[in-house]
Amino acid sequence: MIKIAVMGYGTIGSGVVQVIETNQDSICRKIGEGIEVKYILDLRDFEGDPIQSRVVHDYEIIAKDPEIAIVVESMGGVEPAYTFVKAMLEAGKSVTTSNKALVAAHGADLIAAAKEKNVNFMFEASVGGGIPIIRALNSCLTADRIEEISGIVNGTTNYILSKMADEGCGFEEVLKEAQEKGFAEKDPTADVEGHDAGRKIAILTSLIAGRQVDFEDVYTEGISSITATDILYAKQMDRVIKLLATSRQTGDTYTVMVAPFLLPKEHPLYTVNGVFNAVFVRGNMLGDAMFYGSGAGSLPTASAVVADVVELAKHIGKHIELEWRPEKLEISDYKKQTTRFFVRTSADSAQIERIFGSVRYIQVPEVSDETGFVTSEMTEEEFEKKAAELGAVLQMIRFH
Ligand code: HSE
Repeated sequence: MIKIAVMGYGTIGSGVVQVIETNQDSICRKIGEGIEVKYILDLRDFEGDPIQSRVVHDYEIIAKDPEIAIVVESMGGVEPAYTFVKAMLEAGKSVTTSNKALVAAHGADLIAAAKEKNVNFMFEASVGGGIPIIRALNSCLTADRIEEISGIVNGTTNYILSKMADEGCGFEEVLKEAQEKGFAEKDPTADVEGHDAGRKIAILTSLIAGRQVDFEDVYTEGISSITATDILYAKQMDRVIKLLATSRQTGDTYTVMVAPFLLPKEHPLYTVNGVFNAVFVRGNMLGDAMFYGSGAGSLPTASAVVADVVELAKHIGKHIELEWRPEKLEISDYKKQTTRFFVRTSADSAQIERIFGSVRYIQVPEVSDETGFVTSEMTEEEFEKKAAELGAVLQMIRFH
């Protein structure tokens, strides 16, 4: 019998218990023995709840119990999650977490701690919720050098942008409605300003590069400046605006950024709508692949956590090698990356052409007091210089 503990009985922790109870038989067959949730660590008592007898308030009870082989961390936040997880690994227990803040900040350190004790630290649910992207990178795509990972990895912003595109509404209006329906947090900053996606692409890049990518180094723009007018232009160009977290091989490092991009119809991420997430991967041998599914929510996320539990149970006594070393990866300066830029300006065509040369104008019947155009390919650095000279830039969105 495998005995496990769940630290944090919120949306994901309760989902983990539910997944194990609902699919008990098939999970046990896959592991080859029974599984039991022995402890649930939480600040609350859950009086009258069937789990009440298993609730503990002190993480050391779990760390000191030799019967516990696997611990699920679903508390969220960096502390005290880091202290608790480190203690569990040092006590010789394998850990799985859904906590991207913890993994982005301390992934390399926790993997090293797991190796030291011949146990494992897994984090499938930290990126893309229920989508199996981490295991794909660590197990299935190991024959490849990954040249690009670009993902829609934040459900809140994808819901908002999809709704703006469908209904032609403005950002504020859709955000308010999403908050009322529970699709967006009361404080939506981490989602709408791209910080959540920044942590996720830092994790994915650390895995493909094998070295630590600090999310603070990732250039990040959110979607709060996207307007209904931008959506009209996007439609006119047969494109869609998506918040992409993207990482592209540049020499022996990666260019990593989070920003709204204009995607063409033929891009596999074009049709990813609503709260769904998807991650596009380009390998140097594989070519293109895409992973699509529910990026959040109690049961999809818990499904990924429990899949990690099954994997951990199958590997008791064996550390699974994972290349994510603590040495920092110096990511490439995004300003050296070239792309085409869509621009809205109050400047006239003579000024535009004097500075940008030949451009493609985009005309939208509903908009008359400004000019929209697409530049030729240039670096961010060049674009910034030209945009400063033009002044009067109302909006800029990159092509992908
Ligand atoms: N706030 C996140 C999202 C939850 O909207 O995708 C999953 O990490």
